[in-house]
Parts: sequence; structure tokens; C-alpha cells
Amino acid sequence: MIMERRRRWLLLLALLTCLFASSAGREWKFKHKVHSQSPVYNHTLATILVRYASTVYLSDLTELFSWTCDRCDGLIKDFQMIEIIVDVQHCLQAFVGVATDPNAIIIAFKGTQGNSIQNWIEDLFWKQLDIDYPGMPDAMVHHGFYNAYHNTTIRPGILNAVARAKEFYGDIGIIVTGHSMGGAMASFCALDLRVNQKENNVQVMTFGQPRIGNAIFATYYSEILPQTIRVTNGNDVVPHMPPYYTYFPQKTYHHFPTEVWLYNIGLRSLVYQVEKICDASGEDPTCSRSVIGDSISDHLVYYGVKLMDETWRPCKIVTGPGLLDHGRSDLEGNFVLSRDVATPVLKLKIQSDAGGKPL
Ligand SMILES: *[C@@H]1O[C@H](CO)[C@@H](O)[C@H](O)[C@H]1NC(C)=O
Ligand SMILES: *[C@@H]1O[C@H](CO)[C@@H](O)[C@H](O)[C@H]1NC(C)=O
Repeated sequence: MIMERRRRWLLLLALLTCLFASSAGREWKFKHKVHSQSPVYNHTLATILVRYASTVYLSDLTELFSWTCDRCDGLIKDFQMIEIIVDVQHCLQAFVGVATDPNAIIIAFKGTQGNSIQNWIEDLFWKQLDIDYPGMPDAMVHHGFYNAYHNTTIRPGILNAVARAKEFYGDIGIIVTGHSMGGAMASFCALDLRVNQKENNVQVMTFGQPRIGNAIFATYYSEILPQTIRVTNGNDVVPHMPPYYTYFPQKTYHHFPTEVWLYNIGLRSLVYQVEKICDASGEDPTCSRSVIGDSISDHLVYYGVKLMDETWRPCKIVTGPGLLDHGRSDLEGNFVLSRDVATPVLKLKIQSDAGGKPL
């Protein structure tokens, strides 16, 4: 009943958006340079990274820290966790660790959790481009997305963990990922790593992220981080938010490239998924913009992987005995769990592995 009402409400929003968007043929013509290193979409890599974007949602930090969660198996089982950062005040969570395939530092950001997601999506519609992105003339972004990364305990936690990882593993590449709001944070984190930390091997793959800045921001972004894939799924509503208005070229949000749009073709038992690699504009009209994005369920599952915490307890975390020995927290209750990078076996893992198999 409520879902039905929400769905109709979202449809109305989507229609309004289309109405605005098509009321003028004037398209914001911003020069998009052709990049020599346009990103290569790798399906296998996508199915690996989406699993990191999924595990970071887990609120059971014992399972997550020791990498013993159900989701931590299979393609991502060899991951070495280095640090989990939880900003309790703002309900944010991220982790940093090292994977063997791809051989890289992986940084993953959690999106908005469980039952507050509908409110979050409705609010997205009204987000204003209200702050200037530092160092990029005329580039504007929304303060909420920007601050979630730059003005919380998340950024110092991430940068510290990346430095520790590089000290131990040498100069390996960095891949930043996240779903939904976590995709927005991943984008800001990757820019920070590239521009401020001078990291020169940074790749990004996000799933169902919202728009985060204007066309000028998108152009800077794509020049700084050409190795970016922004995956969208079917009718997922979030990539359609905040709306894109061709009528207000200076005021409108604009996605950065390169989108890869997943959609189904066929009927009943003959349905299969197509992965369409979109153009370099960021707003390819033949990709997700070709449909009315009104689906929340398409937002929550990418490549068959669930992107939510099934306990549906917003902002709640679960810790076990001994876990906080690995952590340090501040006065607000925000905390960081970290592992000594040079110690390949976690004590916690040994304790929970009753069989004592060699690790
Ligand atoms: C795609 O990514 C997977 C996972 O990292 C890797 O093993 C494989 O070699 C990649 N394929 C290509 C063609 O780069
Ligand atoms: C950072 O957050 C604090 C409190 O959450 C706020 O007062 C301050 O204005 C924020 N800074 C920026 C640059 O938005």
C-alpha cells in the first residue's frame, strides 16, 4: 500500500522531470574532450566490486572486520581488511583493504540504509547545487554529498588506512567503489586521492549513484578521473536524481561519464541482461535516461547482488567482544577499527574458526 503510493509519487516526480527536461530543445553544450584513456568496462571486475559495495552495508562489524560474513566469500574471499571507519554521528560507514584480484587497495562506501531510503530518495529531488568545488572554477556540487566525505571522520580514516596500506604493499593501484550515496562519496574520495594526495593510479566504479554536481564539475571530473565507470540498472530511480533540466543549463546537475546501463530484454523465460556502454557525455540519452526511472527495487540489486543491510535497522551497528580492542573512538562515539597490516592473520578469525584450519 505504502510502496504503491511511493511508486506513484516517484512516477509523478519522474514525469515532472521529463516535462521540464523536454520543454526546451536547448541542450547545454559543454565541450567534452575526447580522452585517449577512456575506461575499459570489465564485467568480471564489476561483479567483484559490487560485492565490496554490498559487504560495506553490513552492520555486524565482527563479521565484517574478520571477513567471515556470508557476503565475504567467493570472488572476494582473499580480501585483507585494513580499516573500517564508522561515523556514528552521520550514519556513515566505509572500509579500506587490499585484494589480490584485482591487485589493488579497495575502498568501499556504504549508502543510505534500509527503511530510510525512500525518504532519502524523495529528498534528493530538492537538492541544490549550493557549494563551489574547491580549485575548480564554476564547478558546483551539493553540500550534503561533499560534506559526507570531506567533513566527517570518514576522510581522515580513509587517508590514514591508504597510507598504511601503501607502506606495506608498495605502490599498488586504488579502486574506489560504493552504491547510492556511497557512490557519491566514492567519487569525492577518488578526486581527493588524485588531486590532493597525488595518487596517480585511481579507478572508480559506482553503482546507482545520484548526480553530484553541474556540467562543469562533470567535465573536470572526467579529465581527472577518466578511469571511472558509473553503473546504472534498469529503472533505478536514484541515477535520475537530482533531476537533469535541459531548460536550466547553468543550474542543472550533470552526470560524469562513463555510464554502463544494465537492462533486460526479452520476455518471460527468455529475459537476459544487456550491458550498454554509454557515450562520453555522462548524459547519454540512449542509456538510463531513455526510461522513466521510478524503481526502488532496481536500486537495491545490481548484478544479482543485494545492496542493503538486511537487518533494516538504520544506523545500528553490532560489535562483538574483543572487537573494540582493535578500535579507537572519539568523544562523539565515531570509531575506527584497524588491523596491523603486517599481521596477515586476524586473531578474531582464529577464534571464530573453530576447526582451526590453517590460514
Ligand atoms: C577483468 O577483471 C578481472 C578481475 O580483476 C581480471 O582477472 C581480468 O584479467 C580482467 N580482464 C581484462 C581483459 O582485463
Ligand atoms: C562541517 O560540519 C559542521 C558540523 O557538522 C558544520 O558546522 C560546518 O559548517 C561544516 N563545514 C562545511 C565547510 O560545510
